[in-house]
Amino acid sequence: MKELNINTKIKVCQYDELTQEQKLLVDQAKEATFRSYAPYSNFFVGAAALLENGEVVTGSNQENAAYPSGLCAERVTLFYANSKYPDQPVTALAIAARTNGDFINECAAPCGACRQVILETEYRGKQPLQLILFGKGQIYIIDSIKELLPLYFDKDSLG
Ligand code: THU
Repeated sequence: MKELNINTKIKVCQYDELTQEQKLLVDQAKEATFRSYAPYSNFFVGAAALLENGEVVTGSNQENAAYPSGLCAERVTLFYANSKYPDQPVTALAIAARTNGDFINECAAPCGACRQVILETEYRGKQPLQLILFGKGQIYIIDSIKELLPLYFDKDSLG
């Protein structure tokens, strides 16, 4: 039996090492946390999607008293971007989160369901979608969702 080892490539950096475009996207994801509706978890997440035409679409997590009816910031943002601009590839997505009155130190990684939606968005756009995960302590840059979802199921898996 052979063993398969799969590596994940993540660049770790600080805010001042980002490009101007990446900084603006992170700033907008941070701003979006203030429009989050998270009275149950008090975990306020914001996301900002950069489209190929230069537009930026932001979104935040939207919770519900019937918990599973709520939605993460990433999916709110990507579904909105894809419904408003169905033909525009999303080239980057920044994610930030705040709790206990401050931005989190360790960055938050997208949940499994959001990873699947990010994968579909990348597939639709026919190009890699860069993830920028903001943490006060460090920022993670991941060049494709396939790094976080190496054994993925997409349209091609359907044959
Ligand atoms: N949440 C997001 O919006 N994105 C993530 O990547 C992780 C979790 C939301 C869902 C819920 O509203 C709250 O954070 C706590 O899980």
